[in-house]
Amino acid sequence: MLNKKYKKMPNTKIAGMGFYVPDNVVSNFDLEKLMDTSDAWIQERSGIVERRYVKKFEETTSTMGAKAAIKALEFAGVDKEDVDFIIFATLSPDYFFPGSGVLMQRELGISSGEIPALDIRNQCSGFVYGLEIADQFIKTGKYKNILLVGSEYHSMGLDFSTEGRNVTVLFGDGAGAVLLQPTEEEGKGILTTHIHSDGTNAEVLSFINPGAHGGYHLGKETFGYQDTPYGEGFITEKMFNEKMLFPQMDGQTVFKTAVRKFPEVIIEALKTARKTPDQINLVIPHQANLRISQFVQKILKLRDDQMFNNIQKYGNTTSASIPIAMCEAWEEKRFGDGDLVCLAAFGSGFTWGSALIQF
Ligand code: ACO
Repeated sequence: MLNKKYKKMPNTKIAGMGFYVPDNVVSNFDLEKLMDTSDAWIQERSGIVERRYVKKFEETTSTMGAKAAIKALEFAGVDKEDVDFIIFATLSPDYFFPGSGVLMQRELGISSGEIPALDIRNQCSGFVYGLEIADQFIKTGKYKNILLVGSEYHSMGLDFSTEGRNVTVLFGDGAGAVLLQPTEEEGKGILTTHIHSDGTNAEVLSFINPGAHGGYHLGKETFGYQDTPYGEGFITEKMFNEKMLFPQMDGQTVFKTAVRKFPEVIIEALKTARKTPDQINLVIPHQANLRISQFVQKILKLRDDQMFNNIQKYGNTTSASIPIAMCEAWEEKRFGDGDLVCLAAFGSGFTWGSALIQF
């Protein structure tokens, strides 16, 4: 028999949001001075006009995350001491280990040891993955003030020669954060989340060195590993000499997969919540590439006012792109209280996901 005292689990609401991007604006024309590329090529293929880069040595992934977090806390009117769980998503961490979550915790001055900081990867889908994780902890009542942060310092690790141009022109630095809390309000908050992964094409968009693979997946001779009985370090001479220490991407495979997976996972969320595309007030996709977003909009037959893009200003900021876009969309009054918002992501792994939120 059902316990009559059974209490409905709360939903998770976004109580605060904030973002931070460095002041340093880098235009396509600035990149033209470093590599054989052009403003026209970059805009035509990606929609990007400019991006922000960290002023080297002035900040890091974790300090940018802290700045975004402070804004999210101010928005929510929550004291940093009341945060009970930190989730930090990045693919460009300060250190190999420990994770950037504890570094941000230290930066925020909340390192008493009472609360946990969890680092997640999941690349461009990191924020949506983090949202699903946080949602479970809020629903069960375990935590009441979860700080979810996505932050990236890409410019530190890009190849600024012509060889790296296909990847380098796309990415920018920045951070976004949300403060998540339970809500008892019927029908409000996160209605549903969906996350997926498929490692078949893991290397298609990847940054594999330095790493512990030792050549296992692609042949040790590829990377210059020796037949020594034990490890010889994560970096070999060959990696240095042959510029194997940068991200790599087969852009066309990424494009083709992304334009299938984005609509698929948005429809999955809509079906679960019994909603239709016309009921969405705003889709905030991971800002991968304006052409990808335009394809998704066309496939789902969404109007212009239902789609938010700001990649033109910031480039692709990976795990930070959705919270940055969500903050800007809120500031620009593209959505408000009572609106239905769909977040969607696709990225390296491949990983992808969606979240439907009733504000
Ligand atoms: N400037 C000028 N020329 C360039 C540049 C550049 N920055 N980059 C590549 N090229 C050249 C190539 O060398 C190639 O020259 P070639 O014909 O002489 O060999 C030519 O442009 C065409 O290269 P392709 O890689 O075939 O270009 P494509 O039309 O596929 O566009 C792009 C490349 C923009 C990366 C595209 O594949 C794409 O949008 N892919 C999606 C990937 C993406 O958006 N990734 C974002 C990160 S992943 C994520 O967030 C999900």
